[in-house]
Amino acid sequence: MNREIALQIMREYEKKQDDIARDIKRKTQEVYSKIPLIEKIDRELSRSSLYFIKSAFHNPERSKEYVIELKKKINQLKQKKIQLLIANGFPADYLQPKYQCSDCRDTGFIQGKKCHCYKRRLVEICYEKSNLKDVLKTHNFENFKLDYYSDTVDPEHGISPRQNMEDILQKVHRYIENFDKSDDYNFLFYGKSGLGKTFLSYCIAKELLDRGYVVLYLTATDLFDILRTYKINDDDYTDERIQLIFDSDLLILDDLGTEPFTGFNMQELFNVINKRQLQGKKMIVSTNLTLDEIVSFYPERIYSRLLGNFKQFYFFGEDIRLKKRDI
Ligand SMILES: Nc1ncnc2c1ncn2[C@@H]1O[C@H](COP(=O)(O)OP(=O)(O)O)[C@@H](O)[C@H]1O
Ligand SMILES: [Mg+2]
Ligand SMILES: [Zn+2]
Repeated sequence: MNREIALQIMREYEKKQDDIARDIKRKTQEVYSKIPLIEKIDRELSRSSLYFIKSAFHNPERSKEYVIELKKKINQLKQKKIQLLIANGFPADYLQPKYQCSDCRDTGFIQGKKCHCYKRRLVEICYEKSNLKDVLKTHNFENFKLDYYSDTVDPEHGISPRQNMEDILQKVHRYIENFDKSDDYNFLFYGKSGLGKTFLSYCIAKELLDRGYVVLYLTATDLFDILRTYKINDDDYTDERIQLIFDSDLLILDDLGTEPFTGFNMQELFNVINKRQLQGKKMIVSTNLTLDEIVSFYPERIYSRLLGNFKQFYFFGEDIRLKKRDI
């Protein structure tokens, strides 16, 4: 998992615990001033514990007995406290910590394992950071329609757009299921615009985010803008997406080829692809360019990677945007 995100979550849990401790302290003071007897009981409680610890230390053979006795005493005192609270108009659990998650008592962990509330928070943060929070409510596999892809066999490709999309979907699902182990690190979606490349990338993003992976979605223009701003500004300027560009489990780079083919962009693109590859981090790149155009527009060290290390999926058929308008 991304280190920054793990730190952020730990800080949130620390803050929760801090808030709870502070809240109890404040309530305790309030109760003490209204019901001085409760302060006495609390003192009695800590004295008894101390006394029993000492006794058990000196007479270890009787420690079981002591524990039973101590529990009895503590229970009695606690009952008395509750009665006093209620008699004075406080709720019985007024001095109990109010955890948001009682399973892990807001620590995030149960016996060293991440609690369900930790995992839920992780998914939430990843959604926020992915750039896709809202769009994924509608753009996901649940709303994926195969009907937009025609059944008619395309003579040039020997299969129908629908058959092609079914094949792609099958591979995409296998990729998601095996996201941890698959060694097909990268996908290249290419084909004319309006064929569902972006839509399918969103579907994949949602599926992986829901499983707790860190996904970042950027168009090529966004990517180079972020990198340029980062380079121009002082070092203390940090766009947290910079780290995710290199560290996220999946980087979706959409609309490659719409950026200016400047030396800076080419250098940075190579950097991103290369660094991620060295770390075994996956990428999905989408482009409206043909493979020939990729070869002619990009330097060899980039196109050799895009063609050699990316599994290529060709999208063909009719523009879905136009079809949607007809329906
Ligand atoms: N499988 C699909 N099911 C439903 N709507 C889709 C599907 N694929 C694409 N669309 C819709 O069709 C339009 C074009 O798709 P898009 O993914 O933007 O194409 P591309 O990225 O290939 O240009 C968008 O409005 C998108 O929401
Ligand atoms: Mg697109
Ligand atoms: Zn929890």
